[in-house]
Formats: sequence, C-alpha cells, structure tokens
Amino acid sequence: MTQLKWGILSTGTIAKKFADTLCQLPNCGTLQAVASRSQEAADQFAGSYNIPRAYNDYLSLVRDPDIDVIYIATPHSLHYENAKLCLEHNKHVLCEKSFTVNLNQATALTQLAKENNLFLMEAFWTKFLPAYQLLNQTIAKGEIGNITHFRAQYGFAPTGARYVRKFDPNLAGGTLLDIGVYALGVAAMLLGYQPEHMYSNAIIGEYGTDTFNSIMLSYPNGITAHLITAIGTVIEQEAVLFGTKGQITLPNFSALQSFIVAKSDGISYTVDAPFETNGFEYQIRETAACLLANQTESSIMTHQNTLAIMKLMDEARAAWGLRFPCEA
Ligand SMILES: NC(=O)c1ccc[n+]([C@@H]2O[C@H](COP(=O)([O-])OP(=O)(O)OC[C@H]3O[C@@H](n4cnc5c(N)ncnc54)[C@H](OP(=O)(O)O)[C@@H]3O)[C@@H](O)[C@H]2O)c1
Repeated sequence: MTQLKWGILSTGTIAKKFADTLCQLPNCGTLQAVASRSQEAADQFAGSYNIPRAYNDYLSLVRDPDIDVIYIATPHSLHYENAKLCLEHNKHVLCEKSFTVNLNQATALTQLAKENNLFLMEAFWTKFLPAYQLLNQTIAKGEIGNITHFRAQYGFAPTGARYVRKFDPNLAGGTLLDIGVYALGVAAMLLGYQPEHMYSNAIIGEYGTDTFNSIMLSYPNGITAHLITAIGTVIEQEAVLFGTKGQITLPNFSALQSFIVAKSDGISYTVDAPFETNGFEYQIRETAACLLANQTESSIMTHQNTLAIMKLMDEARAAWGLRFPCEA
C-alpha cells in the first residue's frame, strides 16, 4: 500500500469536514468513493470534493476493490453494523465517536478487526491535538504541582430537526454518547482510563435520552473529576485542571488550541498550539501512518482506550436506566 485510497460512508455534517480536511493532506491518500443512502446526496458530495465514485448504498462502497480504508460518519446506532460490514469486506476502518452504542458492540468490532488483521480506530480526534502534548509537558514539568482535581463542562442547544435527531433513542442519541464522550475521553487522557469509582446522574428528557448528565470520578491516587455535559442548554465548553501549585484552564477542551496556566505564585501565561487545518488532520495522519506501516492499531488511540470509555458509558447508562432500542 503506497497511496491510500479512502472511502467515506455517509454524507452528513462531519463527513464533509473529514473530506474537506483529507483534500488538504496529499500525503494521507486520496478520496476514492463516497456512499450515501441516496444517489443524489452521494453525487453532490462527490462533486464537492472531486471524488470519482459515488454509491447509493453502503454495501457497494465496501465491495469496491480499490478502497483501502473507510471513514464511518453515521449516527452512533449504526457504527457497529457499518464497521462490521467494512471489516467483513476487508476494509480498514476509522469510525466516528462514540465508537459504538455499548461495550459489547465495541468488543466484537475490535475482535473482528484483529481476526481479519485490519486497522480499526475510533476517530477521537481530540487525543491527537498538539495542544495536549504541550499540556502533558507542562504538567510533567510540575508547573501546577501535583494534580488534585479535573472539572469539565460543555453544553449546546440545537434547534428544530437537529434537536430531535440529537435525542432520538433510535439513533442512540442523548448527551452522553454525543458529547459526554469528550469529557470522559479528556479526563481519561489526563488522569487515566481506569477510575476507581464513578458516581453519575442524568436528567432524561422527553425523547427518553439524557439531556443533562453529571459524572464524578475518583482515581486510586486520590485525584477526582467532575464532568457535566448537556444538550439543550448552552454551557461554555471549558475544563480546568487543579493542582497543588496552581491550575490550568482548557477552553474548548474537545478542540483544544491553547491553555492558560495560572500558578499559585502569581505567574500566569498562555500556551498556544493552533491547528494547521481544522484539527482533523492529526487523526487522519495517524491513520495513514499506521496503515502505511502495516499497523492494525494506533498506539495513541488504542482499542483498550475505546473499550474503557465504552465501559464507563455503559455503567453510567445502567445507573440511569437508559437503554437504547437497539439493545432490547
Ligand atoms: N469528530 C467530531 O468533531 C464530530 C462532530 C460531530 C459529530 N460527530 C460524530 O459523527 C457522527 C455523525 O454525526 P453528524 O453530525 O455528521 O450527523 P449527521 O449530520 O446527521 O449525518 C449523519 C449521516 O449518516 C447517514 N445516515 C445513515 N442512516 C441514518 C439515519 N437513520 N438517520 C440519520 N442519518 C443517517 C446520513 O448520510 P447518508 O444519507 O448520506 O447515508 C447522514 O447524513 C456521529 O457519530 C457523531 O457523534 C463527530
């Protein structure tokens, strides 16, 4: 494999962002085909990004012998069946977050990828952002002493059809799988993927999925975290890492491009790490690098990382009594 050929499965909002980014990364491969449930949407998408092939069903995409890797950007409820279809047709997969609806589905996919010797990664783009490398260096230098607590909050308010879609239980909607995964994922990146205890609660809305959730975590070393996410209420996206000698504020932590260090000795400064393109370039480069090196798993966003987050989300939903129709 010298020049990667990508397929895109679906033509929604984030599929467009992905296509737009890949078109600006000549060393990461080319867009070979797109598939949609409708020919019109596939043709329109293909026209926008100069994609040679446009299919009106997902099966035709996975059957295309010229495609190496497929990016999946459908609603959460479909990730399992879409990724399974790709893996069963010998395609490598980069799949949007949340990776699947639950841990069972995620485990089955990682096993299938291993059995078929195929690359599989959750498109948790946040983990690849350069700002997090700088943040880790800042923490390691002891700039804020020992970490004691992390808090993160994020809420947005969609309207109209998008509001209904965001909460649709048939699409595994609700706050947790949509954006709670960012708060949990960043907490895991900074504090580890194995909290000792988790206490959580949620407000379940009119569609039967969570409109608001609050998750408290504690870790074996005594560090704690409190995460709040909501859909339907605008809550400025921000996280703060507290230490014995100061704190670090992470504005827009899911798309981190800078952070503010405020030390208890009065010194404060900002560290900037702007995106080269739009932030998606780093996860795309990682996927391409793994594939060109014949690696079936990223060492940055591992299968275990994905499974650990899915397990926490399963446990949270179990505590709230929230099951999706596809889990019946
Ligand atoms: N990484 C990020 O920054 C980011 C941001 C937003 C969303 N996401 C994730 O990306 C995924 C897609 O989100 P999105 O915002 O792009 O969603 P979206 O705009 O609603 O697009 C989803 C696409 O999935 C396809 N689809 C197949 N079956 C569907 C169904 N029953 N109902 C609705 N759509 C269906 C449709 O494409 P066709 O009709 O062409 O098949 C649709 O355009 C989700 O997992 C979400 O969490 C990631």
